[in-house]
Amino acid sequence: MRVMTEKALNDAFAGESMAHMRYQHFADKADEEGLNEMARMFRAISYAELVHAGNHLEVLDGIRSTSDNIQTCIDGETFEIDEMYPVYHATAKQQDESGAVRSTHYALEAEKIHADWYKKAKEAVDRGEDVEVGDIQICSVCGHTREGEAPDKCPICGASKDKFRQF
Ligand SMILES: [Fe+2]
Ligand SMILES: [Fe+2]
Repeated sequence: MRVMTEKALNDAFAGESMAHMRYQHFADKADEEGLNEMARMFRAISYAELVHAGNHLEVLDGIRSTSDNIQTCIDGETFEIDEMYPVYHATAKQQDESGAVRSTHYALEAEKIHADWYKKAKEAVDRGEDVEVGDIQICSVCGHTREGEAPDKCPICGASKDKFRQF
């Protein structure tokens, strides 16, 4: 692909991805405010942005075999663990930004588990098998990721069992 087109599509992919994410959270907020029809509109348009992002990603050749896709995940999570979040966390600390100190800590802790899971998953997929995984629990406060039963208390943020969402 020509350089300018690729750059434009990457920017568009990033923008659509962020809009998708923002609208999801805006929908939750609208629900909290009792504005359920506004929430529905946010969710619908969020889905359209997901479609747009997917189209851009496809044209960018960003969706390949699952084995290759998992490798993309391993690379991304590893970068976040080794470089990005430690630096962001240190910056937030240095600048006394407690909210950012907390959110970067939450993400860093979860990314460690994600990288680990993806590495194991890639081994299985490359053997020609599907992954074997039990119930997956995600903490809705901090993103802590674990297999099996939800814990009584999140080991990362202290949230209670009912804050976990099962997949
Ligand atoms: Fe992650
Ligand atoms: Fe948590």
